[in-house]
Amino acid sequence: MADIKKHWYKEMAVYQIWPRSFKDGNGDGIGDLKGVLSKLDYIKSLGVDAVWFSPLYKSPQKDYGYDISDYRDIAPEYGTLDEFKTVLDECHKRGLKVIMDMVVNHTSDQHEWFLESKKGHDNPCHDYYFWRKGKNGGKKPPNNWRSIFSEPAWKYDEGLGEYYLHLFATEQPDLNMDNPKVREEVKDIMRFWLEMGVDGFREDVITFISKKENLPNGIPIPIATGFEHYMGGPRLHEYLMEFKNDVLSKYDCMTVGEAPMMTPKKALKHIAEGPGQELNMMFHFQHMEADSFLTSWIRRPFNLKKLKKVYANWQEGLYGRAWNALYIENHDQPRIIDRYGSLEFREASAKMLAAMYICQSGTPFIYQGQEIGMTNINLPEIGMYDDVSTINNYKLGQKLRLSDKTIMKLAMYASRDNARTPVQWTGGKNAGFTGGEKAWFHINPNYTEINVEAAEKDENSILNFYRKLLKFRKENEIVIYGDYKEHYPDSDKLFVYERNYEGKRMLVICSFCDKPCVFKTPEGFDLGKGRLEIASYENAGNTGNNFILQPYECRVYMF
Ligand code: NOJ
Repeated sequence: MADIKKHWYKEMAVYQIWPRSFKDGNGDGIGDLKGVLSKLDYIKSLGVDAVWFSPLYKSPQKDYGYDISDYRDIAPEYGTLDEFKTVLDECHKRGLKVIMDMVVNHTSDQHEWFLESKKGHDNPCHDYYFWRKGKNGGKKPPNNWRSIFSEPAWKYDEGLGEYYLHLFATEQPDLNMDNPKVREEVKDIMRFWLEMGVDGFREDVITFISKKENLPNGIPIPIATGFEHYMGGPRLHEYLMEFKNDVLSKYDCMTVGEAPMMTPKKALKHIAEGPGQELNMMFHFQHMEADSFLTSWIRRPFNLKKLKKVYANWQEGLYGRAWNALYIENHDQPRIIDRYGSLEFREASAKMLAAMYICQSGTPFIYQGQEIGMTNINLPEIGMYDDVSTINNYKLGQKLRLSDKTIMKLAMYASRDNARTPVQWTGGKNAGFTGGEKAWFHINPNYTEINVEAAEKDENSILNFYRKLLKFRKENEIVIYGDYKEHYPDSDKLFVYERNYEGKRMLVICSFCDKPCVFKTPEGFDLGKGRLEIASYENAGNTGNNFILQPYECRVYMF
């Protein structure tokens, strides 16, 4: 049995707020801190221990806060720094920790550093970014890189006669982390928030911050050409260690790094416990690729075996050595019920998916609206979308000569806007999201049925199931610290695993089947001797060791 070290970041569950769509408190149609304040008791009632705020900072909002123009202030549409301090205080009073999004791979093109850097080569901020002369007498970009948001990764600046690098939107210039002054700035920003009392950071695309020297051409692909030269780049370990040694280690805080294309083996080099640990955990993407490849826009049929394999690799690979971050939704992913569950069996599949991931080893993250089973909005026309990556992908689809019908089919399924619709609080006007006339973005018309108010009234709602699960996790160390062993890896209907900890055993049974499905208890277990702790169907009695699972049913037994 591996020696598991206990820590608060391992025991907590986190609720993610994407501020613009969480709750409007001042009637302007945009979510804000006043709205957050009014819902802190609700958040606490879920049984979570922390809130992660997607960026609240000042920003032109070209990528909804991930383009920061002032790291030390709050966007006026969300409130003021004083209001943030009140939220922080009120969270702490309720025993909720606060995790800030730290976006330092890039800034906004409206950040003072960038505005300065454009002024000339001798400006002190010039080398904060990647400025390069074009090729062919300046007419062609310095290399063939393409941004993650499907456009060339270089933008020409008339004034300087040079190009700057942006791995995301044009308005998100990449910071040059090789410049020690930039690293000092980053550390100062971290200190600023930690001194204020925040409890940690979710570090945005942190594995992109070191680019290969001389920025060589990449393998040409339509999206993210060049990624092999900045994904886990040459000085990444060095920079992460510097942030840790100079700042993070001096505070009782936690970090979770966002890490596209990460594998367990590579992750261990960053998160293995011990003196060389750079981050506490990582958000990888592999389990979000059971129905897609690299991005939800490149689709393939949902494959349960693939999903289980990924989980087994991470669960077994990290156990006793490092810690998992568990999530199935966030502001970048379409809603999970539409993807891995079933709209027909929305309630059952939402509950099953919740148990499937929350009962694994790791820190669970729950994205706003996930706890009531919100679904994709499926907007039918491109003009209705707002997300920069959706609009760029649409244009790319046109360039690739895909039919409008095909592109829209992809957008309806894959767009990030699906997860960015306002939270559905009530069945009333504007889903109770805003008291004003209109919400900033489309509200999913299913709010009349799917909303927090209705879920509160129903003892068997998805919401109350999440509460039960989180309470169960908190009360049973095995759910947090137990090991992981998968059963029936070849089944394309069932996801079954056991956990073991200090003499206790737990069996998690999940059906991914939309029809009744035969279940045979794995060898070594006798369900008659176990306690049924979590059940998604009301009438799930003890039915021996072989029985029929209802569509998308899940059960958790403890021994
Ligand atoms: C990852 C964030 O989650 C996403 O929303 C953002 O667009 C990119 N990083 C760029 O910051």
